[in-house]
This record gives sequence, C-alpha cells and structure tokens, in this order.
Amino acid sequence: MKTIIVATQNEGKVVEIKNMLMGLNVEVKTMLEAGIDLDIEENGKTFVENACIKAEALRLYTDAIIIADDSGLEIDCLNKEPGVYSARYLGKDTSYTVKNQIILDRLKDVPKDQRGARFVCAMAVAAPHSPTITAVGTIEGYIGYEAKGSHGFGYDPIFFVEEFETSTADMPMDLKNKISHRGKALKQVKETLKVLLEE
Ligand code: IMP
Repeated sequence: MKTIIVATQNEGKVVEIKNMLMGLNVEVKTMLEAGIDLDIEENGKTFVENACIKAEALRLYTDAIIIADDSGLEIDCLNKEPGVYSARYLGKDTSYTVKNQIILDRLKDVPKDQRGARFVCAMAVAAPHSPTITAVGTIEGYIGYEAKGSHGFGYDPIFFVEEFETSTADMPMDLKNKISHRGKALKQVKETLKVLLEE
C-alpha cells in the first residue's frame, strides 16, 4: 500500500484530510508519524506559494506522495486579514478562544452586510518524478456576532455559512468537509492522487 504524507503539524487539518481520503487504498501519515521532524518556514506571499514551499521541502525527505495545504481566513472589513498569517495572527501561542474573541470585539459594530469572510485553501501534491500540482478551494461566509459550536478547529466557531445558518464549528465533520475550502481543493487534486496511487 502506498503512503501519503500530509505536510502539516496542524492536528485539525490532518483529521479532516484523513477523513476526506478514506476510501482510497492508501496509508495517510502525518510528518511526525513518518519520522520527519521539519520546521518549514512559510515565507510565501500567497497560499499557493506556501503550499508549494511545504511540498517541495518535504520532497527532499521522502519518496512518498506529499499533500501540503496552506490555508487561512480572509475577513473583508479587516483588509483580508489574517490571510496567509492566519496561524500566526495575534500570536502563534495565543489560544483560538482568545483570538476569536478579539476578532468578535473588533467587529462588534460592523453590520452584517460588511462581515463577509472566506476560508481559502491551496493544496499542493508532489511525488517523485512528477511536477507539483496545485489547486485552490474557497468557502464564502461571514463572521458571526458570537462564537458557536465545538467541532473543527481554529477560526471555525466564528465563521458562519449563510446556507446553513451556523458556524463551521457547529457542523458535523462530514458536512464541513463536503463544503469547505479544503474539501473543494482536495476534490480537484483527487484524480491526480488516484493516478499517482496506481503507478
Ligand atoms: P497553515 O498551517 O499555515 O495553513 O495555517 C492555517 C491557519 O488558518 C490555521 O492554523 C487556522 O488558524 C486557519 N484555518 C485554516 N483552515 C481552517 C478551517 O478549516 N477552520 C478554521 N481555521 C482554519
């Protein structure tokens, strides 16, 4: 059975990606599970650049297929912050309970029609003797007036999706994965993954 290594230390992302790849005949490992302890500097200016930086860095350490994702939250009325800085925004060791509350406080007087936001995910797939391929998925939503839900991770409790009238933290993982930025990006690279797994 072939192995896919997910190039991230973010446990929330790994859980989602593992769930999305269920059904493919493949063993999915985190970098840690694959014995790779690598601190990759994400100094790209875009999500795609950062996903490629991660995938290319890992390429040097393994012959397995690599999936790297770089993702984040863009809030329109904050000039698309935190964007590519989502993980480091307001301090990388600050809890998301605190980060989310700070964002809610900043937006407390902002009317609903100006609270637009989106999650963006760039995904890069790399394998030996293959060019790195990338895909981008987004999900549109808005920043709610209070945190809601206990699933997911990161900014999920404050990111609301109009159609479901609730936050992505208030959705079962299967539903979030179906509609999410990461789910959409992964759907685009799935055909490439299937080909790589058959080689
Ligand atoms: P990365 O590891 O540099 O891609 O960091 C992405 C950051 O964006 C995460 O640490 C979260 O703060 C945020 N993020 C990305 N995707 C999601 C999501 O699906 N839900 C909540 N937060 C997310």
